[in-house]
Amino acid sequence: MRSIIPDYLADALFRVEPDTSGQPAQYIPELAGADPERLAAVVATIDGEVYGAGDSDAEFTIQSISKPFVYALALADRGFDTVLDKVGVEPSGEAFNEVSLEHDTGRPLNPMINAGALTVQSLIGPWNSEPAERGERVRQGLSAFAGRELTIDERVSSSEMDTAHRNLAIAHMLRSRDVLTEDPRTVVEGYVRQCAVLVTARDLAMMAATLANRGVNPLTNEQVVSGAVVRYVLSVMFTCGMYDAAGDWATQVGIPAKSGVGGGLIGALPGQVGIATFSPRLDEHGHSVRGVSLFERFSSDMGLHVM
Ligand code: DON
Repeated sequence: MRSIIPDYLADALFRVEPDTSGQPAQYIPELAGADPERLAAVVATIDGEVYGAGDSDAEFTIQSISKPFVYALALADRGFDTVLDKVGVEPSGEAFNEVSLEHDTGRPLNPMINAGALTVQSLIGPWNSEPAERGERVRQGLSAFAGRELTIDERVSSSEMDTAHRNLAIAHMLRSRDVLTEDPRTVVEGYVRQCAVLVTARDLAMMAATLANRGVNPLTNEQVVSGAVVRYVLSVMFTCGMYDAAGDWATQVGIPAKSGVGGGLIGALPGQVGIATFSPRLDEHGHSVRGVSLFERFSSDMGLHVM
């Protein structure tokens, strides 16, 4: 029987299309020039069905949506104790690029904000891994979540590095508290490359579906990370993934989610589906404007709120 989901998704895109508020990320020169009209929505079920509408195969950079997946890889590579010793799991209630460190320990409050993600970047792979090895572990790990080989947009990566003053400042703060124990610039370079991995909305939906499926990619059947790791990741996505809009999101949409300034937005419903949207114009929190509208619509139309 033909599914009604593609028609439903196409109709949802049609309804949010007139909203042209917000603008693509301006602080990364390569992103400022993104086509603002691009629009896509994809739903991937945990048994491997994928339904898409709009520009679901258009590539864009993953940006902060990499954070929960790289956190998962760090938990898998180094274990819970080591990672939790360095990065907390408390919401910051602040923007993604605030410093947000615990006063007494200097630990970043959570892995979804930049301070936490920079620290997580230093915890990838076996202890003392070289930066190039960590970079490859991240690229391959994100590829395993997506179920296909992903590449890096070198132009976006070098463009972001040219203006990465704020992330460099945060990394130096972390170094000054000995949360980072290596050259802050090397860590920022690794983080910026992680953010520049190219994905499509279809890839992001598969990545989210892998989280929804307790770490098993529904298409390749690879167990990418354990169910215990996924429980941690989805918990921090729920409480911290939408930064200073996390409470509004939890009450209104009620799906563990993560956004990126490339215009992507994912949600993962445990035991059910991964959802991804793509539209580059952003609101004041750095979330895709039309992506947020689409998720509000999906949550209420399909009864997806977890509560
Ligand atoms: O750290 C940055 O500024 C970017 N590379 C990623 C930020 C981001 O995607 C925030 N999320 N909405």
